[in-house]
Amino acid sequence: MQWWRDAVFYQVYVPSFTDSDGDGLGDLQGVRGRLGYLELLGVDALWLSPIYPSPMVDNGYDIIDHRAVDPVWGDLDAVDELVADAHAHGIRVTVDLVPNHTSDRHPWFCAALASPPGSPERARYHFRPGSGEDGEEPPNGWRSVFGGSAWTREPSSEESPGEWYLHLFSPAQPDLNWTNLEVWADLDKTLRFWLDRGVDGFRIDAAHGMCKQLDGAPASPDDDPRFDQDDVHDVHRMIRATLDHYPERVAIGAIGVRSAARFSRYVRGDELHLAVDTRLAASRFDADEVRAAIEDCLESVGSVGAAASWLLSDHDLSRPASRYGAGIVGRARARAMALVQLALPGAAYVYNGDELGLPDADLPDAARRDAVWHHGEDSRDGCRVPQPWEEDLPAYGFTTGEPWLPIPDEYAALNAAAQLEDTGSTLSLYRRALELRRLHPAFTTPAAQDPPLEWFGAPPGCLAFRRTGTTLVCALNTSSTPVALPPGDPLLVSGPLDDGMLPPDTAVWLA
Ligand code: GLC
Repeated sequence: MQWWRDAVFYQVYVPSFTDSDGDGLGDLQGVRGRLGYLELLGVDALWLSPIYPSPMVDNGYDIIDHRAVDPVWGDLDAVDELVADAHAHGIRVTVDLVPNHTSDRHPWFCAALASPPGSPERARYHFRPGSGEDGEEPPNGWRSVFGGSAWTREPSSEESPGEWYLHLFSPAQPDLNWTNLEVWADLDKTLRFWLDRGVDGFRIDAAHGMCKQLDGAPASPDDDPRFDQDDVHDVHRMIRATLDHYPERVAIGAIGVRSAARFSRYVRGDELHLAVDTRLAASRFDADEVRAAIEDCLESVGSVGAAASWLLSDHDLSRPASRYGAGIVGRARARAMALVQLALPGAAYVYNGDELGLPDADLPDAARRDAVWHHGEDSRDGCRVPQPWEEDLPAYGFTTGEPWLPIPDEYAALNAAAQLEDTGSTLSLYRRALELRRLHPAFTTPAAQDPPLEWFGAPPGCLAFRRTGTTLVCALNTSSTPVALPPGDPLLVSGPLDDGMLPPDTAVWLA
């Protein structure tokens, strides 16, 4: 059963979901305590942000041990309990997997620094002598995704000027060398470790990374030698081969590549089940841009018969309720885009807090924690602030202690308990949408169809599509005037209709 083809995955950003022990950081028991909420919301699966031992330079994406749990989140028993309870609630659990790099405090990297150039310990990473007279310049001009050079010189004594190591993200995240067989064997061990514990799959971080073209010329002028190299597909085939020993498990790659054609290579039959990127999230609230993103995504999966994936936000992106505009407008547009996202054929990802319509938090500089993107507005903290559960509890029910990021006052009114009671709330909209998606005959998923969507003619600034083989029509109005509804019975509207017309900043489902 290919349950993941149209599943709704809910991203739990563990630090900010619920804290069970008062240390101000969310944890696994906190997630476990909210399974009732998640079942009410109607999601099919969770994606847990990294829970592994980490110095937290990049909030857990810098890992010391891929087969253990950091005590701040709980322990392995807590994982087992969470997985068992989630399954009892009909919810599957996927975990983040970070194969591109480790922490600079991983035992392998410590051993590398303690070993001489050319040693097998160093061969698990990318060490190179520097360029320039005394090796004082980085080996090449590669940039890190987080800014600055992608190379850092190892700390060393004056007599032995050190080598440089590669890190496509922060210096605390040295890149593994994927031409080294030990690295492969270790990932296989990690996959089996979690699969044996019953997790339902992996969200693979930077899944277009891993293999680099460090020597030699780029394959073409638009080839980025740091990412999306041909060899990476062998890694995904290995991952898939391991997963295929376990029924119904899923590998989802988070990738960023330059074209629909390059994207499709990741979801070929023997590679990832799903791949997700930010094409939909990157489009502005503009019907033409949204349609172009949808068509591009469908093209990249259609050619290989894979299911599409739709993501509006995650822990790296500005929240939709802020990104599409300020205040009421932003929230209305985010609600409209949620209906577009959830009408599209394929899997969908909902980032925790978006179901409450949370805006980005405007944090004072002193409160910011995103060490890698700490330059002002580029910090990702604004979308990572803890979730408000109940208005009258300290920290709105997130923690009994001091939340690791301050929760802004405006989150109080957006708490989950109040939204559950309010039929007009964003949470109620999500619940209803997920319920319809699951139960309404208009959503019946037909056998693989080509193309999966039929576009209808729509007024300027609007789009309307039907899922092929079903009666579900979704229309979106990004223009500034109300427009007539397409034919059909309205099932769900993201905001009130205007005299039977679809107002600006609104989407509707019809059957
Ligand atoms: C991915 C993660 C991001 C992290 C980076 C490095 O982009 O989503 O949060 O900082 O990888 O692991």
